[in-house]
Formats: sequence, C-alpha cells, structure tokens
Amino acid sequence: MTMKPRIAIIVGSTRPARYADAPTQWMLKQADARDDLDVEVVDLRDHPLPFFDEMASNLWMPSHNPEAVRWQQTLDRFDGFIFVVAEYNHSITGVLKNALDQAYKEWVRKPFTAIAYGGLGGARAVEHLRMIGIELQMVPTRTAVHIGGSDFMTVHPMFGNQPIATIEDHLLPSAKAALDELVWWAKATMAAKATEA
Ligand SMILES: Cc1cc2nc3c(=O)[nH]c(=O)nc-3n(C[C@H](O)[C@H](O)[C@H](O)COP(=O)(O)O)c2cc1C
Repeated sequence: MTMKPRIAIIVGSTRPARYADAPTQWMLKQADARDDLDVEVVDLRDHPLPFFDEMASNLWMPSHNPEAVRWQQTLDRFDGFIFVVAEYNHSITGVLKNALDQAYKEWVRKPFTAIAYGGLGGARAVEHLRMIGIELQMVPTRTAVHIGGSDFMTVHPMFGNQPIATIEDHLLPSAKAALDELVWWAKATMAAKATEA
C-alpha cells in the first residue's frame, strides 16, 4: 500500500473575476515541489452543484443528484485537502459551504489546510472552515497560509496586481509548515484506516 497522500487543492471561489487562480497556482507549485504527496487541483467550476436538495446528508442515505454523486466520487479519490479560501463577509464563500454540505463520508477522517486571502488574510473564513471541518469529522491543521494586510494589497488585482512571487518570502514558511502538518496527518489517518481494514 502506498503511503503517499493524494491531496486535492479545492478552489473555493467560482465567480468569473475571481482572484483564486493565483493562490491556487502558487500553492500547487509549493506542493508539486515535494516528493511526499501527490497533488491535483479540483475546481468547483467543474462541479456545478445544485444548492443542497437531498433528503439528508450522505452520512444517512445515498445522494440522488448526479452532480452531488460525481462530487462525492471526486473527493473519494483523495486523502487530504488544501482549500483555497476567499473571505466573503467574514466566512467562506457560499459555493464552498454548499460543496462541503454535498458530501460527508468522503470528508471523514481526512486532514485539511488552506491558503486564504483578504484584508486579514482570510483568517476569519479559515476559522469558520475549521469549525465546519470538525463537524465533518475532518482534521484541520494548525497552520494555513494567509495572504493579508499589505501583502494582499500588493497582489490583489484591484490594488497592486503584482504576482505572488513578489511577496512569497512572507508565505513560504507557513506553506512549508502547513504542508508538513497536512502530510503528517494524512499519513496518520491513512495508516489508521489501513489497520481498521
Ligand atoms: C461578497 C463579498 C464579500 C467580501 N467580504 C470580505 C471580507 O469579509 N473580508 C475580506 O477580507 N475581504 C472580503 N471581500 C473581498 C475579497 O477578499 C476579494 O474580493 C477576493 O478577491 C475574493 O476572492 P475571489 O476573487 O477569489 O472570489 C469580499 C468580497 C465579496 C465579493
């Protein structure tokens, strides 16, 4: 059995003018440079989910909507997640919350971290995400990557519009810590599941 975790970077904003692509690609580069995980981008634009319309979460009964089922099948392939978190009114985007609600079993006992951005680095949204993750029986890492304050103003298209490389010295330590923690927990949960099986 391979112990190399398969990690999905989930892009949590779908609006046409989103900034999310820049942090997604930057985080992909950091993860791709490592040999202790396999990483893939999963874009919510490629998963046009309806607003949750099932009888119950798939913890209790199988989902019916074909897009919900396809989403669950996508998540099932991964051992851990990196969420790309835009902060909308101090929380995660509605589209990401809906995507979290549209699965359950596929999140359970899997770790996640985040790369977030906003005036305060998306910190409030990541804290909400961690609380949601606990209800989904996930393992949130302590460390996430936060693009905030003057760094956010430097890179965001509405302000400085500079590439993330301009400020990446500020992000690299937290990116390494976040990925180290993610891999540790992914291996731990994978090993525990293998023992159960
Ligand atoms: C509806 C909405 C609410 C927002 N609320 C916040 C917020 O609470 N805190 C913050 O730092 N930025 C906030 N912003 C600004 C976002 O950080 C910024 O628009 C960012 O680019 C959003 O991510 P996206 O472009 O990938 O969708 C908000 C933006 C929108 C559209």
